[in-house]
Amino acid sequence: MLQLPVRVRLKRIAAVGCGAVTVAVISLGTMGQYGGAPAWWEAGSNERMPFSSVFKDSSGDLLIYNTAGDLTSGQHPFFRPLGTNGRGCITCHQLSNGMSVTPEKLQERWLQTTGHDAVFAAVDGSNCPDLPQNDRASHSLLLEKGLFRIQQQWPTEGVTPEFRIEVMRDPTGCNSGKTYGLHAVSPSVSVYRRPRMAANLRYLEAADAFTADSRATTLEAQAQDAFHKHMQGNGNISADDMQSIVAFERQIFVSQGHDDTGGDISSFGAPALLGSWNLARAAALPSGNGMTLANWAGTSNAPENEFRRSVERGSVVFSSRTFAITQTANLKTGKTTQGTCTTCHSERRTGAATTQAWMDIGTSSLPWAGDQKDLPLFKITCDAKATPHPYLGRVIYTNDPGRALITGKCADVGSLVMQQLRALPARAPYFTAGSAKNLRAVVDFYDRRYQARYTEREKQDLVNFLSVL
Ligand code: HEC
Ligand code: HEC
Repeated sequence: MLQLPVRVRLKRIAAVGCGAVTVAVISLGTMGQYGGAPAWWEAGSNERMPFSSVFKDSSGDLLIYNTAGDLTSGQHPFFRPLGTNGRGCITCHQLSNGMSVTPEKLQERWLQTTGHDAVFAAVDGSNCPDLPQNDRASHSLLLEKGLFRIQQQWPTEGVTPEFRIEVMRDPTGCNSGKTYGLHAVSPSVSVYRRPRMAANLRYLEAADAFTADSRATTLEAQAQDAFHKHMQGNGNISADDMQSIVAFERQIFVSQGHDDTGGDISSFGAPALLGSWNLARAAALPSGNGMTLANWAGTSNAPENEFRRSVERGSVVFSSRTFAITQTANLKTGKTTQGTCTTCHSERRTGAATTQAWMDIGTSSLPWAGDQKDLPLFKITCDAKATPHPYLGRVIYTNDPGRALITGKCADVGSLVMQQLRALPARAPYFTAGSAKNLRAVVDFYDRRYQARYTEREKQDLVNFLSVL
């Protein structure tokens, strides 16, 4: 059952403080949060997760609702180690980072544990398992960009690929070595990706596409994949544990709850689009309303209202400001279209997609992704008979072939499943490879990519809008 938040205003939730004692002034200190849940949650620890938890993030507070009420983690399978390397799901999906994990948090953790936390496990918490694990440099992609290694057997079982892969650059050594890579005894491709939010998943289930390449189409299949790939588990997750994990994923709702300038975002008076409470109770937006926001700002020139007006304008830019969406693969509306951000981020409550979840907007391939020297670079050469990639043709240079690793199709190279846009200030950097270090970099990418020619004010309005979702 959905539980009502008893304390309407965040400031008052904050006043409950770190323990049971009411404190007048909250010092965030190393706790970095106001509720009962820890800022770094270690797998297997017995902690209380209150039905709502609040954490400081880069522009305000993040708010998490667990609609099933308080939870004590001790035996809960999302929170305890499941496989063989001491990691729980919680290890890489931290509450304080909006159920993802950031480089900032990982760097802190590296210092606190001299690199011995389970999150740094050789298997995917290092650039390649055969590197010296005590050396910080061997974990650089995780520590600098929050990227975990994803290893995919190549060719994928049951698939005859339409293309050949060559390794042009291998900065991690994991694509051309003796033990890992295309010429190893069991050939595989390694790519590096950000953890996606393990929250608000009810809204993502309609698309049947989890992870960047949609190798999992259900939450159950995704958890099983995580158990094998990230937790080095043997066999399968038990039926009981699976049920608890998936139930948990469907009952937690995460969004921004408070903005340092704009004030409270998540009380009952907040616009229906905003706040985890609205998200949790599936606030009924009138159909066709897209992701626009109105009537949030009052009439005075208080900084709070100035900010809210900017957010409102940003929501209009997001939904209504058109640009030519060209050179984009797997776009459901066809090859070229005059569109807006909502042409792709159409789902009203999370900004994810409900259909055709993966597409290639250029974040992982040249030229649009830019030359990311810390990542592997693959040359993809497609068969002459294969349907070519719609705008890159038959020779493609990419850091991550994305969906094509699963389908083996030339036209799918670089297509990635889009993410939801919630809780962004808690989980930079953005895009699958963490290539945009902040929200401004995301907006600048689109401005370049689709020649939107946003004015400076439109860019700032968009950034403000994204920062309150
Ligand atoms: C070692 C870190 C790590 C652990 C442990 C981990 N994950 Fe993840 N998770 C990731 C990464 C990285 C991705 C993105 C993978 C990709 O895109 O290929 C991800 C993606 C996901 C997604 C996809 C969300 C979406 O929008 O597509 C879900 C759901 C998820 N994880 C849940 C879980 C669960 C449940 C567990 C425990 C059984 C778990 N994760 C354990 C790192 C981890
Ligand atoms: C043509 C489809 C398309 C359009 C138009 C589009 N997006 Fe995206 N968006 C995507 C895809 C696909 C991804 C995932 C890319 C990746 O993971 O590398 C994404 C990712 C993002 C992310 C990163 C989310 C994360 O968790 O890392 C943000 C933020 C974002 N888009 C905002 C916007 C804004 C703002 C606009 C309008 C200026 C916009 N998008 C227009 C398809 C689109």
